[in-house]
Amino acid sequence: MAGLRLHERKTLMALQGLGGKASVEDIAEKSGLAHAAVMRAALTLSARNLVKVHERKWNVATLNEEGENYAQYGLPERRLLRALLRLGGEADVDEAAREAGLDASLVPIALGWLKRKDWGVIKGKKCALNVSAEPPLGDDERLLAKIFESRTIRVDGLSRELKEALNVLRGRKLVDLEEKVHRELELTEEGWKTVKKGLEIVEEVTQLTPELIISGRWKRVKLTRFDVTAPGPAVYPGKMHPLQQIIKRAREIFLEMGFTEIRGPLVETAFWNFDALFQPQDHPAREMMDTFYLANPQTGRLPAKRLVEAVAKTHEDGWVTGSKGWRYKWSSEEAKRLVLRTHTTAETIKYLATHKKPPIKVFSVDRVYRNEQVTYKHLAEFHQIEGIVVDKRVTLRDLMGTLKTFYTKFGIEKIEFWPSYFPYTEPSAQAVAYHPKLKRWIELCGMGIFRPEVLAPVGVKCPVLAWGGGLERLAMIELGLDDVRLLYANNLGWLRRTPLCQ
Ligand code: PHE
Repeated sequence: MAGLRLHERKTLMALQGLGGKASVEDIAEKSGLAHAAVMRAALTLSARNLVKVHERKWNVATLNEEGENYAQYGLPERRLLRALLRLGGEADVDEAAREAGLDASLVPIALGWLKRKDWGVIKGKKCALNVSAEPPLGDDERLLAKIFESRTIRVDGLSRELKEALNVLRGRKLVDLEEKVHRELELTEEGWKTVKKGLEIVEEVTQLTPELIISGRWKRVKLTRFDVTAPGPAVYPGKMHPLQQIIKRAREIFLEMGFTEIRGPLVETAFWNFDALFQPQDHPAREMMDTFYLANPQTGRLPAKRLVEAVAKTHEDGWVTGSKGWRYKWSSEEAKRLVLRTHTTAETIKYLATHKKPPIKVFSVDRVYRNEQVTYKHLAEFHQIEGIVVDKRVTLRDLMGTLKTFYTKFGIEKIEFWPSYFPYTEPSAQAVAYHPKLKRWIELCGMGIFRPEVLAPVGVKCPVLAWGGGLERLAMIELGLDDVRLLYANNLGWLRRTPLCQ
């Protein structure tokens, strides 16, 4: 008996008293234990091979509200019948309904069934009975009373007549059917041996109190043994949203790697978002397709004239950079237009315009906007991770190494660099990672070394390694998602199930 707890002993004893096999309900009643306590005890007892749990699925019928109402006050046709008997066997429908205390909505039902059961006939506004005394209760009424009495009834155990009656009640929408799991416990051979040796019921102490310790009584009482491996109820404490956790992690990794954070406004002039990055004013990315332009106010202020002129010249003919430029007439009006920034590279170049001296290592993790169709892999509002390294002799290898380090710290191992194109970098590449769930490569970030056409106007003289990419993409890999929209869906079940990142 060693190791059996009070509830388990009580369950065993009740089971013995019930002949060795009984339902959980009967055991609960006999032992005085709660249903859940018997179930928990059954789990342990069956794990120790003292009882066997038999499970069967039962179809049970219960009354709905209307069914309960009829069970208590009688079916409407029965009530109408009784009223008519009291009124001498024939009366106006309205009068009979009043006498029966029937709600107007129930009158057609009562009349319909009165006819169907052949208890009476309707002649115009009058109703006359075919019977002179009250007919006995029908199967439907007997079943209704039976279910009402026992609250639920097993469908399989019903006689053929009552099964038919059940169909009638179901047709009248008075009962609900559901499947219930019925559990029976049975003592095993081992269980019989145990109970025959005799079980002692000693009250157990489930909680140590200061009183028990101070008085020394703890030495004499029986302490309950707890099964610490038993499943407990799930607890969902408040926690940071998974996306916020990843944003935090991205920041921490950059800081670990010696970067400093920069931030900027969500609304920028096209100048910083596009022009300063040598994106021509007729670049497709500027079109309404991709960019959200502000309606009010429509324009913002341009920076110092010298910088604006340098950018203008570079676009038009390459200025001092040795490039031929884009060869069109640059418009300051177009550059003044306000946009929701489409990338954080706007902040990077703005920063470089005022910080030119190497070494520089800065990053941002921030929101950007693109007028995109929202799909499983695209959002119109999302976050970018962006960074630059500025130093005298840095190369593409340093850039790849930096990114590899960054993403490895995120736990992404399979990463490759593929060639790509951006108007502001040369060479340009993209970092891609293998998504195990989607079974394909997905883009992590764009990257490259800023072109002279970008650096000359802001006056930076050494190489700038730059990259920027979607944070939600990273989150998808990290959280094993195949639909990015889940990150913003406030799906409580998913939020609860998603563990904290390390
Ligand atoms: N701004 C680019 C984008 O949004 C990414 C990028 C940043 C590419 C820096 C090269 C250099 O996709």
